[in-house]
Amino acid sequence: MAARRSAKTKSPKPWGGRFAGRTDPRVEAFTQSVSFDHRLAPWDIRGSIAHAEMLGARRIIPRADAVKIVRGLRAILREVEAGKFRFDPALEDVHMNVEAALTRRIGPAGGRLHTARSRNDQVATALRLWLREEIGHIQAALRGLRRALLAQAERGVDWVMPGYTHLQRAQPVTFAHHLLAYSQMLHRDAERLEEVRGRVNVLPLGAGALAGTAHPIDRRMVARKLGFAGIAGNSMDAVSDRDFAVEFASAAALAMIHLSRLGEEVVLWASAEFGFVELPDAFATGSSLMPQKRNPDPAELARGKSGRVVGDLVALLTLMKGLPLTYNRDMQEDKEPLFDAAGTLRASLGVMAGLIEAMRPRPERMAEAAEGGYMTATDLADAMVRRGVPFREAHEAAGRAVRLASSKGVPLSGLRAADLKKADPRLRPADLKATALARSVASRRSEGGPSRASVLRQIQAERKRLRG
Ligand code: ARG
Repeated sequence: MAARRSAKTKSPKPWGGRFAGRTDPRVEAFTQSVSFDHRLAPWDIRGSIAHAEMLGARRIIPRADAVKIVRGLRAILREVEAGKFRFDPALEDVHMNVEAALTRRIGPAGGRLHTARSRNDQVATALRLWLREEIGHIQAALRGLRRALLAQAERGVDWVMPGYTHLQRAQPVTFAHHLLAYSQMLHRDAERLEEVRGRVNVLPLGAGALAGTAHPIDRRMVARKLGFAGIAGNSMDAVSDRDFAVEFASAAALAMIHLSRLGEEVVLWASAEFGFVELPDAFATGSSLMPQKRNPDPAELARGKSGRVVGDLVALLTLMKGLPLTYNRDMQEDKEPLFDAAGTLRASLGVMAGLIEAMRPRPERMAEAAEGGYMTATDLADAMVRRGVPFREAHEAAGRAVRLASSKGVPLSGLRAADLKKADPRLRPADLKATALARSVASRRSEGGPSRASVLRQIQAERKRLRG
């Protein structure tokens, strides 16, 4: 409850002056945000400390009061961090809770904190501070998963496995090459988040409610104190812009899609049908009914939770669509999707890092799967191409060779000279050497391909990026 209430009828709200009657309890419950924005408290307080210090330095409020305010806010911050601060839903949001607590603690000087400031620039500042920090945590979690992928890739440089298109065996690759594809995706995710961080790291405070302030504030000083790289250039944009939230949710949704795809791979690989990896007990769960089951639930949930984050992005976009300038209360709805997107991504990255690190590859099963499916038919065609046969004709010839081999139930290497001649007189028995799996992989030396040298280059590049 607010500290000083002059009359029983006066509204306890900090904005109560204009009001004679009380708020309907349904409205109070409906409009409160403190049940979820309480997590902004540390950031709200840090923003307020910087603001108060600036107000004092610029003599907009008495220096002694600024000192009192900062001291009071620091004490409240300690309470929040210790989990001892009690949030009151009647005080609507985190900002009014903190301000009320300050005035309770230090008296009327607390009433000077909100000089030259509005909750509109205040909430945007707190949200940006929170998100900036959160992106840092997510970047660390991304690096953790990339390190786990790298470690598995380093072991699997020579493990030949089928590469798929249409989930049909297509051409042989290696386990390392397959995993490193995910390293590339996650590297782009990290780049995207870094870019988003740059645009998050801009100070809205000083925009006031929407139209700046007549007080001689120093926004650059506040930006410096809070570590912002710049200040918002238009006060109306500053309080109504949520691009930074949308951009973050977009980057988070895309990262979740990558985790979802990786999760799907693990689900397939851990199945009896593939058997390419085994999940240790710590990353599998059982069935309450079927005693034999070992389910890849963490991977499935990473896949499943991607849907929520896509939903968070859509919620934010839809929220902003059609809002006139400047602040509208709708925007209070930005927080839950944003918190959910960040929390879900961070948790998914953590669990997938653990799972990738702990999964036990089974190269013998990969090799077995790679043997079937005539995956080196392209190599047979390429052998003819190297002698000048146009690729389309070579493709036909190799296709006939596959048909023959398949009808005889043998691999390409099991074809006789006579069979080859029948498929195409230009085919030679020596061409079959190109169809050995290891040779096929080794021959794909194109930059970014699966050959040993190319994979080692990829590993080195990723290792360097993770160090830098
Ligand atoms: N709780 C509000 C939000 O999250 C803070 C800003 C409220 N501003 C206002 N003019 N009612 O958006």
